[in-house]
Amino acid sequence: MSEKVDLYDNAYGHYASDAYREVRIETYGQDFGQTSWVTTEESNEIPQLLGLSRDSYVLEIGCGSGGYALHVAEKIGCRVEGLDINAAGVRNANRLAGERGLASRAHFEHCDVSKKLPFADKTFDAAFSNDVLCHVPGRGAVLGEIFRVLKPGGRMLFSDALIVGGLLSHEEIATRSSIGYYVYSPPGENERLLEQAGFRQVRVLETTGSAARIALRWRDAREKRKEALVTAEGNTNFEGLQRFLSCVHLLTSEKRLLRHLYIASKERGSA
Ligand SMILES: C[S@@+](CC[C@H](N)C(=O)[O-])C[C@H]1O[C@@H](n2cnc3c(N)ncnc32)[C@H](O)[C@@H]1O
Repeated sequence: MSEKVDLYDNAYGHYASDAYREVRIETYGQDFGQTSWVTTEESNEIPQLLGLSRDSYVLEIGCGSGGYALHVAEKIGCRVEGLDINAAGVRNANRLAGERGLASRAHFEHCDVSKKLPFADKTFDAAFSNDVLCHVPGRGAVLGEIFRVLKPGGRMLFSDALIVGGLLSHEEIATRSSIGYYVYSPPGENERLLEQAGFRQVRVLETTGSAARIALRWRDAREKRKEALVTAEGNTNFEGLQRFLSCVHLLTSEKRLLRHLYIASKERGSA
């Protein structure tokens, strides 16, 4: 079995260090503090897919470092609320909000989103979650909570990179799961759970190729900065994360794991 490997504590704890920043720029092109498979192109499309305007109040489930939510707040002029279970991520996000003069419009909270969300019904105009729900138990209930806190007419978007598309060995599943808790889903299950939660107008975009490309670039960018990264996170963790990224690249480029992006609506007139 693969040893447990840390991704998020190191990524958020060392957010401002040169090596981690350079890895993000080389991997994604634009640095939004990502730890996901979201390309810059997809990052740029999300506000439009959600129909955001400067009047929108937006929830990000699993905001990580906070960099992307702050970019959205800055670019669109809207208000954002971010939730994440990682304390270093939430600390970083609130620090960046202060530094960028966005603290009045962007707020981040430590929260396990598998529990009831800390907001009243019909609070948000839109919600999104980039590569997070695969880490959270009880997806049906989580989608139900997102539905509850959205206003009627609101849209939600999430991505899932763990849809099983082919044969996977137990070693591959262990390496792919080495950074934490993971839920693998069969094709069609997310659509079924969205409908069950009350969402309608479900659209699905195929983004498996993005995950394959990002994983390779991320691994190679880290390899170039091996010395600094080993000093920061230790050799065992460095090698474990390289194996994880190689595994993501292999499984997604062979389409044995798929990544899909879901966009859905809470229709006007919904409870
Ligand atoms: C793949 S990262 C994505 C982060 C960010 N959305 C991005 O695009 O870079 C997954 C995030 O989910 C968070 N997460 C995992 N389980 C969670 C839970 N139960 N509640 C809230 N956040 C969770 C992790 O801490 C991590 O920041």
